[in-house]
Amino acid sequence: MIQVKNVSKSFTVYKKDSGFKGAVKGLFKRQKEEIKAVKDISFQINKGEIIGYIGANGAGKSTTIKMMTGVLTPSSGQILVGGVVPHENRIENAKHIGVVFGQRTQLWWDLPLEETYTILKEIYNVPDQVFKERYDYLTDLLEIEPFIKQPVRTLSLGQRMRADLAASMLHNPDILYLDEPTIGLDVMVKERIRKAIKSMNQKYNVTVILTTHDMSDIQELATRIMIIDKGEIIYDGSKEAINKQFGNTRQLSLKIDGLSDQHVEVMTQFMADYESRVAIEEGALKITFNQDQIAVADILSYVMENYRVLDFSLQDQNIEEIVKKLYTGGVS
Ligand SMILES: Nc1ncnc2c1ncn2[C@@H]1O[C@H](COP(=O)(O)OP(=O)(O)OP(=O)(O)O)[C@@H](O)[C@H]1O
Ligand SMILES: [Mg+2]
Repeated sequence: MIQVKNVSKSFTVYKKDSGFKGAVKGLFKRQKEEIKAVKDISFQINKGEIIGYIGANGAGKSTTIKMMTGVLTPSSGQILVGGVVPHENRIENAKHIGVVFGQRTQLWWDLPLEETYTILKEIYNVPDQVFKERYDYLTDLLEIEPFIKQPVRTLSLGQRMRADLAASMLHNPDILYLDEPTIGLDVMVKERIRKAIKSMNQKYNVTVILTTHDMSDIQELATRIMIIDKGEIIYDGSKEAINKQFGNTRQLSLKIDGLSDQHVEVMTQFMADYESRVAIEEGALKITFNQDQIAVADILSYVMENYRVLDFSLQDQNIEEIVKKLYTGGVS
């Protein structure tokens, strides 16, 4: 369904010296610099898969998606989406895809949402009966009815994202590209969006390519994970393999009264029998551990017995850390 073969993308940027002198100099000679955003990536995606496409900021995720949607032209390599070269046939390609960029809306700012959907129906030539079925399903699934008469510019971020997601599915696309669809949303809305994505995938067998910095999105949705680092794909495989190695890693962050290196020493000793890392970061004592080996309650109760804990929080290991580990260790 999607074939990406040896694709690279470079951007040429022109550097300017700062200040007036720089501006004048820039008129005559501009300093060129090449940024290799994506380097020789290859993969295939089959119908119905949900791909979690992850990587650190600037790794090349959005650039990859923009090439698959036809917005950007690869510097080299081939992309075929449903037999079509996206950047050469942008309109044909657009008929079969839905796109949501979390950072900006695809909807018309001043139009009531309802009208936006009617216009999309006309643009994509969706038959009445099909449209009605989809419209009812999507507005119900994403609970859009309460604000459907409002102009898009008056919607909250969570409402807008749900509206965008519904819009992207109205014309029955084969593929849904979601670039950070849960960014900036509260836990409840994130959950609703995840449920909706799952439901749409099951009901219509739509292929989903999802980028996110939220590991919970990945855990709940992805059937396969691709990790990109500095433009290169460093992992492409099952979620299970990643989970086996990293999934049960948690980080406990403790604000302790009078925090010092001594706390690090004591806790390092306490954790000595387990895979772990203890350090002071951002003014907090951070303990990274594998929860298969020791329960968070055991660590917490030890700390609380011995120190005055002002605050604590528990986090999944973030993507940056997983990428770092993968890069040095690899997944077995
Ligand atoms: N139009 C452009 N011109 C110049 N450089 C660009 C352009 N678009 C992207 N880049 C550069 O390409 C690299 C990859 O960017 P990209 O947006 O694909 O990253 P990303 O993985 O989506 O990151 P994020 O998680 O922050 O969204 C970055 O170094 C970025 O600065
Ligand atoms: Mg991006």
